[in-house]
Amino acid sequence: CGIVGYVGPKQAVPILIGGLRALEYRGYDSAGIAVSYNGTVDVRKRVGRIDGLEQLLAQRPLRGTAGIGHTRWATHGRPSDANAHPHTDCTGTFVVVHNGIIENYAELRDELAGRGHRFASETDTEVVAHLLEDLYDGDLVRTVRRAAARLQGAYALAVLTRREPGKIVAVKQASPLIVGLGQGENFLASDIPALLPHTRRVIPLDEGEMAVLTRDGVQLMRLDGTPVEREPMTVTWDPGQAERGGYPHFMLKEIHEQPRAVRDTLSGRIHRSGEGVVLDAVRFDPEWVRQLRAVYLVACGTAYHAGLIGGRLIERLAGIPAWTEIASEFRYREPLVDERTLFVAISQSGETADTLAAMREAKRRGARVLAITNVVGSSVAREADDVVYTWAGPEIAVASTKAYTTQIVALTLLAVHLAERTGFTGPLGRKNLLESLRQLPDAVEAALQVEEEVKQIGELAGGWSDAFFIGRGLDYFTALEGQLKLKEISYIHAEAYAAGELKHGTLALIEQDTPVIALATQPALREKMISNIEEVRARGATVFAVIRRDLTGVERYARHTVKLPVVHPLLMPVVAAVPLQLLAYYAAVAKGTDVDKPRNLAKSVTVE
Ligand code: G6P
Repeated sequence: CGIVGYVGPKQAVPILIGGLRALEYRGYDSAGIAVSYNGTVDVRKRVGRIDGLEQLLAQRPLRGTAGIGHTRWATHGRPSDANAHPHTDCTGTFVVVHNGIIENYAELRDELAGRGHRFASETDTEVVAHLLEDLYDGDLVRTVRRAAARLQGAYALAVLTRREPGKIVAVKQASPLIVGLGQGENFLASDIPALLPHTRRVIPLDEGEMAVLTRDGVQLMRLDGTPVEREPMTVTWDPGQAERGGYPHFMLKEIHEQPRAVRDTLSGRIHRSGEGVVLDAVRFDPEWVRQLRAVYLVACGTAYHAGLIGGRLIERLAGIPAWTEIASEFRYREPLVDERTLFVAISQSGETADTLAAMREAKRRGARVLAITNVVGSSVAREADDVVYTWAGPEIAVASTKAYTTQIVALTLLAVHLAERTGFTGPLGRKNLLESLRQLPDAVEAALQVEEEVKQIGELAGGWSDAFFIGRGLDYFTALEGQLKLKEISYIHAEAYAAGELKHGTLALIEQDTPVIALATQPALREKMISNIEEVRARGATVFAVIRRDLTGVERYARHTVKLPVVHPLLMPVVAAVPLQLLAYYAAVAKGTDVDKPRNLAKSVTVE
């Protein structure tokens, strides 16, 4: 989501709308603003793009020189007028916009409802407005501080009240928030592009900090009230670059967002005791799970590769046979799907026509349908019996990166959830896996450290005409995703092979200097992988190895070896995706292609 705020001498509406447009890349399923004027605060909000909000404002204009605004990417509650921000308490006194997730909102909501508060939306945000009303003691800053002490989760908030007009109070806890300093006016935004038309002097808030904005100045403080002094910085980026967070492309930005995206997708889903998994509202009856004959996982493109990994995890951990199928093929195989089938549809956008069609077919045949998607309220989410969201945030680049890794994480959680019901945890032990899952965001962060070396390989790859990706077990699925990434954005012909299958045909294509990317992240398959690498080396291939750091012995055969942090073997696909995404990215940059919008492709394919 994106947040903006303005206090000054000018009319707030055009400034807020301009800011929201600059933040639309952060989400665009609904938008709204609130402006204070003559002791009142009025809200206009609407589901859909910012154009819809502008139409509403044309019919019902707002005047006033202090206001806040929001463009939404739904997490709690589907996109709707009621769920759009800003949110208010029952009396309309406190107005709040929010980016992030309030993890304990259900608890707070029950508590406030017990004291007579009535809620108008399904959001976690509305709880904050009611909490402020509940706690208000005549001082907004102090009240926001006391409210923040009750909130758990990651959030950025901006608050306006008619009781203290001309003042915006903002809080940052994990979600970004930046103050912009003007002359006799001040600004607030989730990201720098929204500020650039007005000022280049900005102060990014740190964790646990608050800002109080008035016309005359901005006061910074910690949540405990300690004042904070910080010099503003001057931004030199151009607006387009700023929208991409300083990165040259959305794809690179999204690759770098993966530690955060993985953390958000895990957030609140592993029991504190470390024993079990909570999957939002999914409540499978253990008896039904034990009776399951099969799980079908169906998807397209990158989501299909996540499905291959998810299927393997479900078999290994839950002991249920799992089939992963390309959505456009599923219907035509006359699938053996009935009431004893769990059908898992995986789709970043939730709108892919083939995936939707396959899902409807499975439903018709009686399967229970669970959706894994990144878009709240999307078609796939609406039509499924159960939904598990990936919390990757908006993905703009056509080539999927953070949506893919978070899909694997969501599928891992699903596999554990099923395993808890079948009681079959496989040879690897569940506790160990959950421990490693908790460390995963840090491991993904550590995997990003390989960027410089992979960049050099990528620059070399700009000159390749073909490349082969090989791996065994889960590494084969990672190889499939690696070759797709390379093809789609760099247009280099690439193929993935199960390493053991090479000798049955494809080995004929290996010549002197043919590039082979060999994955070795699975301890149990290390020796076999070394033999396969020797096979291609003997035919002249140039091998680039991507290994789990502790699987030594592979380097000997490789021109270059990229070493990844050690996590549980079943989680290595998440970590191993990172260097392959970077390889594709830097190869595409070397070739000068349109990285974020590759030729002939679309982000969401809504035709069959
Ligand atoms: C398109 C995109 C791919 C994506 C696939 C499935 O082909 O270019 O990046 O993996 O659709 O999209 P979905 O939204 O269903 O995950």
